[in-house]
Amino acid sequence: MMGSSFLRVEQAFERVLRRTPLRRIQMSLRGRAVSFGLKLEECGTARSVKSRTAVGLLSDLHRESPLVPGTVVVESTSGNLGLAMVHLLAGIGCGFLAVVDPKTPQATRRALLEQGARLVVVEEPDEQGGYLSRRLEAVRRILDEHPDYRWPNQYENPANPEAHRISTGPEITEQAGADLGAVYVPVSTGGTLAGIAAHLRAHRPDVRCVAVDVTGSVALGGAGGRRLISGIGAGRRSVFLRGDEYDHAVHVDDAEAIAVCRMVREDLGRTVGGSTGCVLRALLDDVTVGSVAGFPVCLAADGGTKYADTIFSDDWAREQGIHADIGAAVRRWRAAGLTFRVSG
Ligand SMILES: Cc1ncc(COP(=O)(O)O)c(C=O)c1O
Repeated sequence: MMGSSFLRVEQAFERVLRRTPLRRIQMSLRGRAVSFGLKLEECGTARSVKSRTAVGLLSDLHRESPLVPGTVVVESTSGNLGLAMVHLLAGIGCGFLAVVDPKTPQATRRALLEQGARLVVVEEPDEQGGYLSRRLEAVRRILDEHPDYRWPNQYENPANPEAHRISTGPEITEQAGADLGAVYVPVSTGGTLAGIAAHLRAHRPDVRCVAVDVTGSVALGGAGGRRLISGIGAGRRSVFLRGDEYDHAVHVDDAEAIAVCRMVREDLGRTVGGSTGCVLRALLDDVTVGSVAGFPVCLAADGGTKYADTIFSDDWAREQGIHADIGAAVRRWRAAGLTFRVSG
């Protein structure tokens, strides 16, 4: 009996994983044309790269001790992992408690509640102005009160990078082919990058790995500070990344990344999330200095729909004091001839 229900859960998780497309985009900048790939994780099941992380983490939890109907899983999330987890857990009759913070988009909170998740919103920032340590304190408190709840711990569980070593990484190398020259990956826990990098180091050591973080995040080290983009960055160092997994690290300014998201929306009619603005901004720097060799691929971790009232809203940008900076960045890049168009 236990054997067949165990298998049913594994199969339910595996069915969720969907291959995502790699779109070829042409960028023009200062009279030069550069082709690159955008790996659209928005086309995955829960609309972000975190679908893969969720399958890896919950499968690991299930192997450790079976997830039976009624089990409650608790996790700290900025939103996307929560959406992926509630989808999987609802499918097998388990509950989900998401510990989120004020930066979690309202649309994400609504979607979590609609799918049956319970929410704990941590309101107080920590000393660095972030929320991660406060979210983790809340998870520990909840586990003290409910020792039967299960915690996958996306920040430390090796099943996180492993999910990307076996799925995201191989998809990228297969879809991009022999020309693949570089991969740009946004960093939060560092699991996505660590997994992709482990695949590349083993199978395509010639490919340059670029770690992309946002200014004010300490995921890759450095000083903490105010951050506005949800999904990317963290208030503590990644335990999965020690530095030798990637060739180059970049910190991107919020307003610069948002300017890129807005230009992509104008040119391609597609909204991408703020972390995709960050990786594209990192690519723009490399194109500017001529350090792009081969075909670069940018991981687009999620789409932009749920950010309509944040990064795509002028009112929000004014409230955050970055409206003028976004406008100035757009004008500067347009003056340099920057455009995007779908190629093939
Ligand atoms: C929307 C989104 N999802 C996923 C990731 C990757 O996160 P992690 O490093 O936790 O794997 C990022 C990282 O920036 C992101 O912005």
